[in-house]
Amino acid sequence: MRRFLIAGNWKMHKGVGETSAFIEGLLATDPSPAVDVVVSPPFTSLPTAAMLLTGSKIGLAAQNVHWEASGAFTGEISGEMLTELGAEWVIVGHSERRTFFGETDRTARDRARAAQQAGLKVIYCIGETLEERESDRTFQVLESQTDGLGGLSHAGLVVAYEPVWAIGTGRTASPDQAQEAHAFVRGCLERAFSAVRAEGIRILYGGSLKPGNAHELLSKPDVDGGLIGGASLDVESFSAIIRAAAVCAAGE
Ligand code: PGA
Repeated sequence: MRRFLIAGNWKMHKGVGETSAFIEGLLATDPSPAVDVVVSPPFTSLPTAAMLLTGSKIGLAAQNVHWEASGAFTGEISGEMLTELGAEWVIVGHSERRTFFGETDRTARDRARAAQQAGLKVIYCIGETLEERESDRTFQVLESQTDGLGGLSHAGLVVAYEPVWAIGTGRTASPDQAQEAHAFVRGCLERAFSAVRAEGIRILYGGSLKPGNAHELLSKPDVDGGLIGGASLDVESFSAIIRAAAVCAAGE
């Protein structure tokens, strides 16, 4: 039985002051114990977030990690540096990293491997562009993006299916489109690991997920949670999505 995971990806939003205010607000909502919740502030806000989240069940993620433990890599941060700060998770291979910073499947896999070696749980992002979807290459892209994931540990691995055309656009995959892609990705994970292990790996949907569409997306059998950008920046909307996941977890 897979537990829902609702992860907020803050991207380049919220310095220390806003991070404190958000986390104090989120803790006050007393998120459902039936749902795993993770927030992902920018690097500079991680220590503040870690301090405020001490003793709570809310997990802390970084948004990137380097594939080496140390070295001459100006501007990069290693897995051990993140765990030292109290991060337990890291987002890897987000489409914005792929589009703006040259991330490839290979570098994403290397980062994920290093993160696991440092003891971090990984949210590994995949997803097709609009052009790829419109030219019927969605499955081919998802297959190649998941190829080689078998070299990672299945433990603590979460995959986020984020169609690039739905990220930050207000255009959401329909629940059926999401389910179709998630079921396909689960098949890829079966080949990479095994049927039993693939059953246990959570596949999150990301791309304009918000309170108004959370329930219908999370009701799909292979949608195990969400990676949320815009709607995770506001305590009210983020907690409304957590509540929608709790309702789905209760089978309603
Ligand atoms: P969005 O972003 O919810 O703003 O579309 C999702 C993501 O990029 O993870």
